[in-house]
Amino acid sequence: MKPAEQRNALGTFVIFGASGDLASRLLLPGLAELHERGELPDGFRIVGVDITDLTTPEFKDMVAKELEEHAPKIDESSRKAVVDALDYAEADVGDPDQVRAAIGDIEEPMVAYLALPPRFFRPTIESLGSAGLPEGSVLVIEKPFGENLASAKELNRSLRAHFPENIIFRTDHFLHKQTVQNILGLRFANRIFEPLWNNLHVESVQISWDETLTLENRASYYDRTGALKDMLQNHLLQVLCLIAMEPPSSLLEKDFRDAKVAVLRSVQTLSPDDVKSKTVRARYTAGVIGDRKVPNFVDEPGIDPEKGTETFAQVTLSLGSWRWAGVPFTLRTGKALGTSRAYVRVTLKDVPHLAFRDTAACNNVLEISFNPDEVHLSVNVNGDGDPFKLEEIALSVSFPPQEQHAYARLLLDVLQGDPTLAIRNDEAEESWRIMEPILDAWASGSPELLEYPSGSDGP
Ligand code: BG6
Repeated sequence: MKPAEQRNALGTFVIFGASGDLASRLLLPGLAELHERGELPDGFRIVGVDITDLTTPEFKDMVAKELEEHAPKIDESSRKAVVDALDYAEADVGDPDQVRAAIGDIEEPMVAYLALPPRFFRPTIESLGSAGLPEGSVLVIEKPFGENLASAKELNRSLRAHFPENIIFRTDHFLHKQTVQNILGLRFANRIFEPLWNNLHVESVQISWDETLTLENRASYYDRTGALKDMLQNHLLQVLCLIAMEPPSSLLEKDFRDAKVAVLRSVQTLSPDDVKSKTVRARYTAGVIGDRKVPNFVDEPGIDPEKGTETFAQVTLSLGSWRWAGVPFTLRTGKALGTSRAYVRVTLKDVPHLAFRDTAACNNVLEISFNPDEVHLSVNVNGDGDPFKLEEIALSVSFPPQEQHAYARLLLDVLQGDPTLAIRNDEAEESWRIMEPILDAWASGSPELLEYPSGSDGP
């Protein structure tokens, strides 16, 4: 099987897990957005596959309501076009005959999108492998890709047995966010940053994704996943890759993904002692965020307190490379925090000698902020009226909000068969290799699971 060779968008989109949260909140709105932008081919068709007992008209009604809720800004005619394009097929993804029956009449190349919890990936891949996909199709798998290193390897083996790597899209929608992509422009199209982008000048790097969001009706998914697997193993490691990668010779798929995987390979494996001293795990308790009362995480319906699922994860990693030896990279994320703040903060070392009387303000920090999309560089200038005093100011730029949702961009790449921003098999395994010792130590109770009140800054 070959990938779509020409850049004509694929015309059939099959969603496995079509009545789930991801399809309703992100995939179908993303397709409606592409329709509005004129980026779906004529005759575009969507087949929803799920185990729920639904007829096509019932499915259409359900999606129409969901689009009203989740894509209110998309033109009504585009929402209707998506609903009109829908068909529904009931199938158990683990049953090859049912999957064959669901997609059997599709002869043209299709997108098979696995919008499913990780435990269903393998049975679906096996079923699709045995049913076969039409020539030119692509297969998309959501994150997290597996639940640990062993399951990711197992998934890769299963994929390899049935499909070539170049038709497989392991997704990470963070790579489709404009400010995440801007890291590349900032680093590799300017002379001023790259000479400083190493351990001679950089003191530390912090990659943070703090959310005020809580469970968003995803208790059953989240309680099996937790913050480390939901955000750190994938999204934040991808941001780390862009921050730490060597300049690639091109941004073509192979050069780009090779450069990212080299970063992941350089991340040093944490020992049990490192996990104890360099990681933090915690879960939220009752509190208030703005004017919203948030219950204790363990009292949320669908959460098993005994599982000890973390809603906050922080990990400090070291990279074994000439460029980054000795620079701590701290990755942190949490739910139910007091403020939504997402940024990369690159703190530069102090100057070798400071001739000023006042040494309080002498930081150089580059902050790349996601949502709002901004870049700030703090520099020091002479204070007002006193030539011997320093004052810290920020050189700042704000970007208009991203026009196209990250998922719409992701879907367009998928429809055009361009895997540059998808995760390759080796990248997925390396990411789990980094997380594995943390998962093991956390499972055995080290370090202790802390608590933080909702609405606070974390533990
Ligand atoms: C998802 C996680 O992948 O990313 C969510 O499952 C998280 O828990 C979300 O809230 C954050 O991304 P975005 O694009 O919604 O800011």
